[in-house]
Amino acid sequence: MSTNTFLSYLSFINLIIFNVRASNHFYGGSITYKPTTSFGNGDGNVTIIITQTYLWSYPTIYCNDTLVRNQALIDLLGHTGYGVNLNCISNCSTSGSYQPVPITPYCTDYSTSLGFTIGQRLDTVNLALGSYFSVAFQSTSLPPLTLYSAQDGGSWSTACTIDLSFKPNGRLNFAPIAPMPPYISIPVNGPQSIQIPVFDADSDNLRCRFATNSSVNECGSVCAPDSLPSSSVLFHNCTLVIVGHNANDTYAVTVQVTLFV
Ligand SMILES: *[C@@H]1O[C@H](CO)[C@@H](O)[C@H](O)[C@H]1NC(C)=O
Ligand SMILES: *[C@@H]1O[C@H](CO)[C@@H](O)[C@H](O)[C@H]1NC(C)=O
Ligand SMILES: *[C@@H]1O[C@H](CO)[C@@H](O)[C@H](O)[C@H]1NC(C)=O
Ligand SMILES: *[C@@H]1O[C@H](CO)[C@@H](O)[C@H](O)[C@H]1NC(C)=O
Ligand SMILES: *[C@@H]1O[C@H](CO)[C@@H](O)[C@H](O)[C@H]1NC(C)=O
Ligand SMILES: *[C@@H]1O[C@H](CO)[C@@H](O)[C@H](O)[C@H]1NC(C)=O
Repeated sequence: MSTNTFLSYLSFINLIIFNVRASNHFYGGSITYKPTTSFGNGDGNVTIIITQTYLWSYPTIYCNDTLVRNQALIDLLGHTGYGVNLNCISNCSTSGSYQPVPITPYCTDYSTSLGFTIGQRLDTVNLALGSYFSVAFQSTSLPPLTLYSAQDGGSWSTACTIDLSFKPNGRLNFAPIAPMPPYISIPVNGPQSIQIPVFDADSDNLRCRFATNSSVNECGSVCAPDSLPSSSVLFHNCTLVIVGHNANDTYAVTVQVTLFV
């Protein structure tokens, strides 16, 4: 077998929360981006679209059919995320003049039976070619979790690395997408396999790994392995195997999807 080089120049982080029954209001989400052109705008910049998708508990964070139809911004007043921007958290000197965009999304869906509201927003921004930096929505007040890797009140971080340098194929890369429902329930006992659905407009070879806190705060206090039941495994192919031991336990984990070259 040849030697593999793991290049994490594309990354995308998904906060996945298992079996949430809780009173806190933020249930996780994901951030990704894609350039609108593979070659740049021709003026030293490239236009990218940043997509943020988040879940909150319904009806505390309210949405209805009228609000979806009217493309209304979700009202977060008094709750996690209110007034918060998607800030640069790392390598900001090479952010290509990134001006933080808000995290407050438009109400796109809700479920009265499952008890959540989903919001999404797309922002078009111009950045200098060659920019390389990380942005994140970071806050506290996750629902109470069974295991915290740090008992710090549920801090979490949902981050995305934006890399606008040309790749060996002479193009800009599209970030991978993992359209995972951030909130799923699993049966008690018996290993449960969850396939995290990842895809990428470039059909690049994608791999999953647990997010880490080593150089960049990718996961706050929801870092595997500590935040998951022991013997949980995340395979490179994005299959997550987890064993839940007790009814109503709640776990969260942050997964990073990267391009494998
Ligand atoms: C949806 O919510 C808005 C704002 O709270 C309200 O004005 C509207 O009447 C509601 N629509 C329905 C169909 O309940
Ligand atoms: C490139 O993008 C930056 C940041 O948005 C902006 O200030 C600058 O005017 C843009 N340059 C051109 C040539 O559009
Ligand atoms: C930021 O830059 C440093 C040094 O170039 C690098 O080691 C680190 O991984 C970068 N972090 C991200 C993903 O922004
Ligand atoms: C990760 O870093 C953040 C910010 O420095 C910190 O609050 C958190 O406790 C760290 N998580 C772990 C698991 O060490
Ligand atoms: C992913 O890899 C694991 C371990 O090799 C394997 O058991 C599982 O079937 C694979 N999943 C898919 C969807 O290929
Ligand atoms: C789990 O939660 C449900 C609904 O709140 C409750 O009826 C049930 O007793 C709980 N089970 C355990 C083992 O705590």
